Amino acid sequence: MSTMVDLVIRDALLVTPEASRPGAVAVDGGRIVAIGRSDAMPAARRVIDIGGRPLIPGALDVHTHVREPGFSHKETWATATAAAAVGGVTTIFDMPNTNPPTGNAAAVREKIAIAARQAHVDFGVYGYVGETNIGDLRSMADAGASAFKLFLGSDNPLVPCPNDGAVLDAMAQIRQTGLRCTVHAENTPILNWRGAQMKAAGRDDLSAHLAQHADIATVEAVQRIALFSEWTGCKIHIAHENCRHAVPVIAAAKRRGVDITAETCPHYLLLSMDDAEQAGGNALRVKPPVREAGHADALWAALLDGTIDMISTDHAPHPAQEKHRASIWETSPGFPGVETSMRLMLTEVAAGRLTLRHYVKLACEAPARAFGLWPRKGALVVGADADLVVLDLNHRETVRGGQFQSLGKVTPFEGRETIGRASQTFVRGTLVMDNGGLAGAPGVGRPLQRP
Ligand code: NCD
Ligand code: ZN
Ligand code: ZN
Repeated sequence: MSTMVDLVIRDALLVTPEASRPGAVAVDGGRIVAIGRSDAMPAARRVIDIGGRPLIPGALDVHTHVREPGFSHKETWATATAAAAVGGVTTIFDMPNTNPPTGNAAAVREKIAIAARQAHVDFGVYGYVGETNIGDLRSMADAGASAFKLFLGSDNPLVPCPNDGAVLDAMAQIRQTGLRCTVHAENTPILNWRGAQMKAAGRDDLSAHLAQHADIATVEAVQRIALFSEWTGCKIHIAHENCRHAVPVIAAAKRRGVDITAETCPHYLLLSMDDAEQAGGNALRVKPPVREAGHADALWAALLDGTIDMISTDHAPHPAQEKHRASIWETSPGFPGVETSMRLMLTEVAAGRLTLRHYVKLACEAPARAFGLWPRKGALVVGADADLVVLDLNHRETVRGGQFQSLGKVTPFEGRETIGRASQTFVRGTLVMDNGGLAGAPGVGRPLQRP
């Protein structure tokens, strides 16, 4: 080959779910144009020798709350996607509980326009599914929504939980678009009833929040939405699975052929209520909750056996003052995650809990496949977008929320030692993070093409 390409990354350990092998990647026009031996690469305008470090496809995080428009004091597109770049995440999907909610075609277009001016990484936008916008779902897909989000289990007046009749009608519509519908699967009446009981009893601590979110509330909702998926043919994705009792429900749905995928998040895998004090007390509040010890082991087993398909983060930043409140009911749920997920999971790789190849499957390939993006995203193959992450598996660092790119600085992992991190992140061939610091300019990130 004699033509000059944009970039060659050589002396890499190319890690995919199938294999780890020494080699190199050539990039031109934002795509991977060659993969092979380092000495067999075309001439390039820029050559980076990574000294045998692992090179993986950029991670996809299909569950982030970017907060703009409406809540830019919590997070902006610039800060959320900077956090993603630092975290080795090259594609995020943004949730629709913004103000205005992403609930019609104009809101989808407006959000994409806001995001495109600021983004450091590629992004997809979720469309909200409600009772009053069923007629808009198709036009939202046409306007560029990458997936839909159904809040079964919501007390947020901006994105209320639709009734089951509306859910069925919406799912029939979503089926027509071919897109997947991600579901926050909890039973709203159970949450409301138990929440009122807790408040009436004067309970306002973290354990009251856990008691409100009873296991049955999620088991029932997962069961119901799997049945609705089977009935309507609408593909679904179970968000932030936190409960061991829901695992067999997901497994049974998969066995009978329901097109269902599921994610869990580092906080459900690595924390339990036993860690509440260490994790900041009320600051650990997240919906659904981190549960009692014992759930995490079952979630790990489900992740390793494929019942749970992928890792997401539910990146849900809030200002510190909203995370440190005396009453649990006044404490904003959620915390940032997109910046720490890879570090935390690589630490588990270092501990021998999963292989690096398996991590690549869970963080890169599986989300890309589930949302119709593979192998353009999440794969090291010729023709794929050159979304690439160089790993430093030996890097040791302590999690410090104060150092985050995210405006959300309160993390339940504060003070945790991690081993391994992303040391360089490329989005379609552009270096956006180098050695832990931002390297690209806002606006490198682009909206996803419709799958
Ligand atoms: C999310 C948020 O803050 O937007 N909070 C959370 O605790 N996960 C909402 C959600 O994902 O349900
Ligand atoms: Zn949720
Ligand atoms: Zn969420």
